[in-house]
Amino acid sequence: MTDDLATHSDTPTWRRMVPDEAAVARLAACFARAAEPPAVVYLRGDLGAGKTTFARAYIHALGYEGYVKSPSYGLLETYEAGGQKVLHLDLYRIEDPEELEFLALRDLFDERAVLLIEWPDRGAGHLPDPDLVLEFGELAGGRCIDCSGQSDRGRALARAVARSSRNAVSS
Ligand SMILES: Nc1ncnc2c1ncn2[C@@H]1O[C@H](COP(=O)(O)OP(=O)(O)O)[C@@H](O)[C@H]1O
Ligand SMILES: [Mg+2]
Repeated sequence: MTDDLATHSDTPTWRRMVPDEAAVARLAACFARAAEPPAVVYLRGDLGAGKTTFARAYIHALGYEGYVKSPSYGLLETYEAGGQKVLHLDLYRIEDPEELEFLALRDLFDERAVLLIEWPDRGAGHLPDPDLVLEFGELAGGRCIDCSGQSDRGRALARAVARSSRNAVSS
């Protein structure tokens, strides 16, 4: 992906540099404004790459005022805010994808739900397909987030956020 494609065109695949947490908060707010449930968002990237920071900023941007903790021990935390039911999962500690069956995601994932899933590959075969994949990484020493729409709805969301985040986030 070239930076030109990533930052200047209206594609469902793009990159934003996020030099600090304030930049993450601005980008997450763009997603929170544009996202319509139901939606499934995979958050990929190494330990410490910024996945929980993004999820926390997204939930706060919806208007949730409490503490958003990392779900790495409990696997799942649920929030109600801004008309959405956010299901924040972190599958890092899962040993067998079958463990996901105990969470009864099928029952929780309804028309009002947005799923934010850290370490989705560890739940392979037991998760809904993503509408959107966000990849948290580093580029030339700076942090970045790559976004790619995976379904028609996800591509529409990615395009909308490509536009709204252009001025809100440095690129
Ligand atoms: N864009 C960013 N710029 C600077 N620091 C960040 C950024 N995103 C996250 N951090 C910091 O990096 C650390 C790890 O972030 P976290 O979101 O917990 O990672 P992950 O959930 O991917 O393991 C935290 O201390 C967080 O404050
Ligand atoms: Mg995390």
